Amino acid sequence: MGHIAIIGGTGLTSLNNLEVLRREMVQTPYGVPSGPLIWGSLAGREVVFLARHGYGHTIPPHRVNFRANLWALNHVGAEHIIAVNAVGGIAASMSPARLVVPNQLIDYTWSRQNTFFEDGLRSVVHIDFTEPYCETLRQEIIHSANKADLDLVEQGTYAVTQGPRLETAAEIDRLEQDGCDIVGMTGMPEAALARELELCYASLAVVANWAAGRGSGEITMAEIEQNLVAGMQHVRLLLEQTISNY
Ligand code: HPA
Repeated sequence: MGHIAIIGGTGLTSLNNLEVLRREMVQTPYGVPSGPLIWGSLAGREVVFLARHGYGHTIPPHRVNFRANLWALNHVGAEHIIAVNAVGGIAASMSPARLVVPNQLIDYTWSRQNTFFEDGLRSVVHIDFTEPYCETLRQEIIHSANKADLDLVEQGTYAVTQGPRLETAAEIDRLEQDGCDIVGMTGMPEAALARELELCYASLAVVANWAAGRGSGEITMAEIEQNLVAGMQHVRLLLEQTISNY
């Protein structure tokens, strides 16, 4: 079986339960990934980790080189990718620090390099994206959470916004009318690029804050960081459980 990769998002630039074996810088036809790939052992299995925003958390969502990141992970033999994403909670059930495994998404991003299929094609390719996430991996994460007695929301629609600013209250109302439950900035084009490479990709979202107009007053970075500290402890446990079951 191919390797399992973890893409860490905001609040997860390292895995403290990962025993690091080596670091590998991969050059790609699309430029450099967000950082070196970190090979390590988690729950006794070899996994590869990449921090989406760089290890110092310096690359904003719209500047992430998603193509280089996905190309690099595919190149080293990753076949399964668990992508961790910090999000805002829109639906009442999506309260801060909760974990969610989305099953759908709506892409509101623009002007990002969003495909591998544009130059030197023998013919035009349109990937099927009816179900944007790998259901096998989603179910594995859900099963592992149940086993570890961790609270997890088993489905939801992820609105992917351009950022880096947070939304207005009216924009969040519109996203809710569109059927979105959570909102973040990094879910796309990552999921589509993974599909183009035929990788089994699922998102594990962590609610960092109530989305604009859903909580009381302004959203602060301090609040986001605080909720992510709590949420990511559960994410680390869940990743360990998922990988040991896999
Ligand atoms: N909106 C968009 N992206 C986010 C949010 C949010 O409220 N919180 C964390 N990432």
